[in-house]
Amino acid sequence: MDLGLKGKNAAITGSSQGIGFAIAVALAKEGCNVALCARGRERLDRAVAEIGALGVEAHGIVADLSTEDGCRAFAEGAAEKLGGLDILVNNVGGMIPGTLDSLTPEQWSTVLNVNLMAAVYTTRYALPFLRKGRAPRILNVSGVTGKQLMPGALTTTIPNAGIIAFTKLMAGELGAAGITVNNICPGFTRTESWGPRAEAMAKVRGITPEQVRASIANQTLLGRWAEPEEIGNVAAFLVSERNSYMTGTTVEVCGGFTRYI
Ligand SMILES: NC(=O)c1ccc[n+]([C@@H]2O[C@H](COP(=O)([O-])OP(=O)(O)OC[C@H]3O[C@@H](n4cnc5c(N)ncnc54)[C@H](OP(=O)(O)O)[C@@H]3O)[C@@H](O)[C@H]2O)c1
Repeated sequence: MDLGLKGKNAAITGSSQGIGFAIAVALAKEGCNVALCARGRERLDRAVAEIGALGVEAHGIVADLSTEDGCRAFAEGAAEKLGGLDILVNNVGGMIPGTLDSLTPEQWSTVLNVNLMAAVYTTRYALPFLRKGRAPRILNVSGVTGKQLMPGALTTTIPNAGIIAFTKLMAGELGAAGITVNNICPGFTRTESWGPRAEAMAKVRGITPEQVRASIANQTLLGRWAEPEEIGNVAAFLVSERNSYMTGTTVEVCGGFTRYI
């Protein structure tokens, strides 16, 4: 199926590695030009080179999306470098382990800014360009903790639930302008950030990181973790011209982790 992404322009937040990078690769393989973003220049440059080798335009913009200024710089910089925007993927996010007692105000502020407000501000500053785009699409990336209770996942559950609500609200506001807004909800995905996270969880539980990974895999119906490209491939369809009558929807790509009917 031709997804109709050839020659389109996409901005993807938090994209020098992990799910954001996999989404950028999936789009580039369909001929879509991409603007990537991260705080660290070195890994970003490597990501841009890898995607550029696929034969599309690829740009890297260093910005800290935990600030409104950073979100604005990325949205406006991406539109300028690509010559317009058709697609925005709000992917940036991460987890800070902790409890209600242990988490500091600074940690709360970081996690809410990066996981939730980055999507709000980047959308705000990308919208003037998206309004002029071809079959414009916004795709937010949340996570299964926004859909199903996972005790202990305080710092992802709250922003993920907020992202799902933001998706619905924006779909309502932008439908008349022909802009669709959807949300992809990945399950446990084998990204770089899980290395230190699995080790930290193993220490708390007194087991090995391999046992942590196995216990997570066992909670899915498919009995395994997702590979980042499995999220990227679904994301590419969700932002494509072929996906024309879906908006305000959350799509779970979680190997059957969520169990409600
Ligand atoms: N992996 C999973 O199992 C999983 C499951 C459900 C949902 N998710 C969600 O999927 C998204 C991606 O997760 P991931 O595991 O792929 O993350 P990751 O491997 O930690 O990658 C995060 C990316 O975002 C960039 N980044 C982080 N903070 C940033 C900031 N303040 N400003 C700009 N860029 C920043 C990082 O580069 P720099 O560090 O250089 O800035 C990196 O490129 C997140 O929203 C996460 O909540 C992940």
